Amino acid sequence: MLGNVAQVDTISQPAAVLDPEQHRESTPIERPWWRNAVVYQVYVRSFADRNGDGIGDLAGVRSQLPYLRDLGVDALWFNPWYPSPLADNGYDIVDYRAIDPAFGTLEEAEQLIAEARELEIRTIVDVVPNHVSSEHPWFREALAAAPGSFERDRFWFRSGRGEDGAQPPNGWQSIFGGPAWTRVEDGEWYLHLFAPEQPDLNWTHADVWAEHEDVLRFWFDRGVAGVRIDSAALLVKDPALAEEPSDPGPGQHPFMDRDELHEIYRRWRAIADGYADPRVLVGEIWLADAERLARYLRPDELHTAFNFDFLACPWAPAPLRASIESALAAHEPVDAPTTWVLSNHDVTRPVTRYGRADTSFSFEGRRAGTPTDLARGTRRARAAALLSMALPGSLYVYQGEELGLPEVEDIPAERRHDPMWLRSGGLDPGRDGCRVPLPWAGSRPPYGFSAAGTTTPWLEQPGDWGPLTVEAQSGAPESMLELYRAGLHARRSAPWGDGAELEWQPSIPDVLAFRRGERFVCLVNFGPDPVKLPAGADVLIASNELEGGAVPHDTTVWLRQAEVRPARPSRTETSNDSGQGKEGR
Ligand code: NOJ
Ligand code: CA
Repeated sequence: MLGNVAQVDTISQPAAVLDPEQHRESTPIERPWWRNAVVYQVYVRSFADRNGDGIGDLAGVRSQLPYLRDLGVDALWFNPWYPSPLADNGYDIVDYRAIDPAFGTLEEAEQLIAEARELEIRTIVDVVPNHVSSEHPWFREALAAAPGSFERDRFWFRSGRGEDGAQPPNGWQSIFGGPAWTRVEDGEWYLHLFAPEQPDLNWTHADVWAEHEDVLRFWFDRGVAGVRIDSAALLVKDPALAEEPSDPGPGQHPFMDRDELHEIYRRWRAIADGYADPRVLVGEIWLADAERLARYLRPDELHTAFNFDFLACPWAPAPLRASIESALAAHEPVDAPTTWVLSNHDVTRPVTRYGRADTSFSFEGRRAGTPTDLARGTRRARAAALLSMALPGSLYVYQGEELGLPEVEDIPAERRHDPMWLRSGGLDPGRDGCRVPLPWAGSRPPYGFSAAGTTTPWLEQPGDWGPLTVEAQSGAPESMLELYRAGLHARRSAPWGDGAELEWQPSIPDVLAFRRGERFVCLVNFGPDPVKLPAGADVLIASNELEGGAVPHDTTVWLRQAEVRPARPSRTETSNDSGQGKEGR
C-alpha cells in the first residue's frame, strides 16, 4: 500500500551475489519506483471479456490482476478507456472523465485502481492532449459556431487557399495518410494530424491548457500513479502554419517538437509534484534525435519517455549497442532513466518482426505479405526480452508479448478497424494484427477471452493459438510466458545490485556482453557459432538451452561471475577462443 510520503522502492542486493565486504559497504539506495519499474500495457478491448460481448472490459482486468501480480509487474498502463466513437480505437475521446460503457463504469475503474494497489501494482492512464473526438462537445460547439468564433479558436480552423478556398490551408499531410485538413459546410477547414475524426486542439488557447490540467487532477485524485501522454511532441503548432521544410533545424518543424511544448510539461510536472505521492508523466515521443528527446526529461518536465529507437532497432549487435549507448548517453545529463520497449499496440509483434529478413521496424516500411520465420523470430524475441530486462531503467511489456503472440496478418478486410489500414487503401497493413484478443485457455477461439459460446471477439483470433494460451504455457519451462515470469522475477531481485551502471565487455562482433555491478554479466550471441561461457560463471537464466555449456545463436544469458572483480587487469575469466570474455580489466 502507498503511504502519505513520496513512495520509494528499496533495492537491496541479495546477499548471495555479494561478498561480505561489499555487503557491509552497500547501504540500500532509495529510488523512486518509476526509475526501474516494469510497466505492463493493457489494451482493455483485447485483454479479457467478462460479460461475453466480445469486448474486453474492466471486470476482465480485475479478474486477472493476480495473473499480472504473478507475472511480476509494477504498474499497468491502460490505453484510452474513455467513451469514444472508435475512429481510432479510443484515441478519439468524447469525455476524458468517464469510462467507455463497453468497458464499465467510473466506479469500476476506481475499484480496479484500488484493487491493483492492494497488489502493489500502480495504474497509469492514457491522456490525449493533441486532439479530441469530432464528437467531443467542444468540436460540436465549434461546428455550430461561426468562423472566427471563440469556439472555433479552440481548434485550428482556417480558410482554404485558391479560388473559393477550395484548397487546404497548407500542404501538411495526416500521419494516417491524406491531407491533414478537412473542409466543413461553411467552407472553413480544420486541422487533424491523424484521422478527420480527431481534430487537433489549439494549444495557444487558455481553455485547452485549463481543461487538460483539470483532467490530470481528475485522474490523479482517483489514485492513478501517472499518465502516458499521447503524441506528446505534436501539441504545439506554428501559428503561421508554414509548410514543412525538408530538413528543419531543432525546434523548427511547424508541428513537431516545438520549443513551446516544454512550458506545458513544466506546468504538468508542477501538478504531478503537488501530490504527496508524486505522480509520473510518461511521454510518447517519436524523435530520431536522442538529445532533443532528453530535453523533455529535464528534472522539471516529464519523468520518462518511450524508447522507440530501441523498439525499432534491427536484431543485430552493432545497431543494438549503438542504440543502447545513445539512449544511456542522452539520458544521463538530465538524470532520467531510460526505458526499454520492444512492442506496443502500434507496432508489429516482435516474434513476427524478428523472423523477417528486415528485423527493423518503421511505419513506412510495413507491407502485408512480408515473409517471416516464426520459430526464428520467437527465438530472437526471447533473447531480446532477456536483454531488455537486464538493461538499467524501466521496462515496458505490451500484453501478449509475454505469450509470444505473432502478428495476425490475415484479418479479412471487412473485420479491420485501423484508420492506418483504411486511409492507406490497404497498402499499410495497419495495427489490428497486434491488437487481437489474448488467448487465456482452451484449444479453440475465443480461448477463454470471452466465455465459450458467447459473441465472437471484436477481432477474431487465429485457430492455431491453442499452444499460446496462458493455460498451455503456464508451468511449461520452455514457454515464453515462463521466460517472462522468470526474467521479471530475477530482475526484481536486482542481481546487479544498487542501480548499477552498464559497462560493455570486449567481445567478438557477433556478441554483446555487458557487466552491471561486480558480478552480473548479460551476454547475447547473435552469431551462428556457439560462444563459450566465461570460466566459473553461473548461469542465472538463459533464453534458450545452452549447448554443451556454450551459448548458441540468438540467445541471451544472465551470468553471475564466480569471482569478485580483481583490482588489477586480468585475463583469467577468459574462456572463449574467439576472444569473448577477454575483459582486460
Ligand atoms: C499514438 C497512439 O499510440 C496511437 O495508437 C494513436 O493512433 C495516435 N497516437 C493518435 O492518437
Ligand atoms: Ca465485455
